Amino acid sequence: MDSVVDQLEQGLLDSLEYQAFRPLGLATGRTMEPFYAALVSRLRAWPTDRLQLLRERWRSFNLDEYVGLAPEHPSSFSAFMGHHLVRPLGLNPAQVLLPDGAAANPEAAADRFAAEIRGAGGIGSQLLGLGSNGHVGFNEPPCGPDVRCRVVKLSPATRSQNAGAFQGSPALVPEQAITLGLREILEAKELHLIVTGAPKAAILRKALDLDGDPEVPASWLRRHPNLWLWVDDAACGEEGP
Ligand code: GLP
Repeated sequence: MDSVVDQLEQGLLDSLEYQAFRPLGLATGRTMEPFYAALVSRLRAWPTDRLQLLRERWRSFNLDEYVGLAPEHPSSFSAFMGHHLVRPLGLNPAQVLLPDGAAANPEAAADRFAAEIRGAGGIGSQLLGLGSNGHVGFNEPPCGPDVRCRVVKLSPATRSQNAGAFQGSPALVPEQAITLGLREILEAKELHLIVTGAPKAAILRKALDLDGDPEVPASWLRRHPNLWLWVDDAACGEEGP
């Protein structure tokens, strides 16, 4: 986790130095928890004036949010970001943007979110986790590379994967989400895909072997000219005897 934090920290330092803060693209999920813990402890060690400048310039857009969950719902991705990043780093929540899952018209909320990203000049560094069925963000299979920010129906596999945040019950996981599309993700300047743990080894292998297969949405990432892959031994299938 240290190497990806090194890289992100350097990017943040450079963007402050050159006064060119490009919005970050942020992800949620269990994979990201140790990442945010390490990033927060690194940034909190910065000199106060530099950290304050970072807080002032901060702008980030999350990949996705569940439809029907307000930010204060404990299982929302907004609550996740509050817990793991916004409060520990003292950020202004208004500068850490997520799709509005509680909007009366989720499709319109997805369009608004995409327009905000375009208005901000697009994403600089985009963090990504990997879903157990090969999804990125909530781009569920089958999925091509040109889909944009929209409302999606979550697959049974994804609702099971994420049940831990909903008292272990897939039925309590919302049926829909707003997600950035692969188009917006592939338009980011650089991508950082973080994959950890043995259960992800097989799907990661597929994502890397296939050259853009709708059944494994993460396989489209290989087409990005600046894709960074951060994996542990277990996700490479190389852990233990
Ligand atoms: C979730 C999110 C993704 C996340 C992925 C992996 O459903 N929508 O953005 O990266 O699935 O989650 P985890 O890290 O908990 O395995």
